[in-house]
Amino acid sequence: MDDLKAKYLGQIADAGDEDALEAIRLAAVGKKGEVALKMRELGKMTPEERQVAGPALNALKDEINSALTAKKTALGDAALDERLRSEWLDVTLPARDRRQGSIHPVSQASEELTAIFAELGFSVAEGPRIETDWHNFDALNIPSHHPARAEMDTFYLHRVAGDNRPPNVLRTHTSPVQIRSMELQGAPIRIICPGGVYRADYDQTHTPMFHQVEGLAIDKDISMANLKWVLEEFVKAYFEVDGVELRFRASHFPFTEPSAEVDIRCSWEGGQLKIGEGDDWMEILGSGMVHPKVIAAGGIDPEVYQGFAFGIGIDRLAMLKYGIPDLRAFFDSDLRWLRHYGFAALDMPNLHGGLSR
Ligand code: PHE
Repeated sequence: MDDLKAKYLGQIADAGDEDALEAIRLAAVGKKGEVALKMRELGKMTPEERQVAGPALNALKDEINSALTAKKTALGDAALDERLRSEWLDVTLPARDRRQGSIHPVSQASEELTAIFAELGFSVAEGPRIETDWHNFDALNIPSHHPARAEMDTFYLHRVAGDNRPPNVLRTHTSPVQIRSMELQGAPIRIICPGGVYRADYDQTHTPMFHQVEGLAIDKDISMANLKWVLEEFVKAYFEVDGVELRFRASHFPFTEPSAEVDIRCSWEGGQLKIGEGDDWMEILGSGMVHPKVIAAGGIDPEVYQGFAFGIGIDRLAMLKYGIPDLRAFFDSDLRWLRHYGFAALDMPNLHGGLSR
């Protein structure tokens, strides 16, 4: 046993990376490792021998395991140190050759879509990113225990001590601004609200913070046909190209009835994201006729007024228009990326001058 111990502790100390460490782990304490084989021999021993050898083998196994863990941590620390040594930017360097910052693609897309909706008669409304449970859910016809709450991967804030109300949330969508705007302005109303929203989700097309633009139009004679026309006009103007193909899909949201989701035809071929070709569809928005309960929650009479609402993913619009395949890059704050995809600060998008030229 002393030989085994010396052998494996020596190997662990010499291991150069995690792969080597894993190989040692398997050979030593893996299911078919040397320690396991020794344990199997316990069966052939006398009870007296076993009483000594059993605990000793277990102790050996523990010792090897803790040496493995310690070494793994040390290797991880060393790798991090090496990264910190080799990857760095001197943030104190004067910006000699370029004195001007650039506009982030998400900001650019927000400016562009605001210009388009302004032309269509929508004004810009705002709401807080820390939202009450009522505005984010109940008022939108999502009572507690509704499955839609679980699907949203909500970030909850700490409750203030002694306060019995449900905790505030980071808004999971811009839809609470529908309620706030109705409360504030009454009907008729035509607003959009671009802004940040939060959900605990992270992959190529999802980040924990992302952006939506909410739209709300309430009046006495608004129909689904108006919704479809507005969305189509918007998409045509935004993408500045012919041949953008849309797909309206019947869907469900607690706050609209009927509801539709809209996808855009795209292709991911060769790691490139392209719009208007290919066999893939990217979902960019949810929409529908505002549920009477939601209109009532906003303080407006649903017997008199009706309307439509939509929520568009701004980051995805930017990905599609500028061919950016991975959403996570938007939030890396990599200066080289920002310079490549960024827009000139003084180039304000408007429909007459051209949105993105
Ligand atoms: N709030 C919905 C979402 O985040 C989108 C939506 C907005 C759907 C307005 C319908 C009407 O998924």
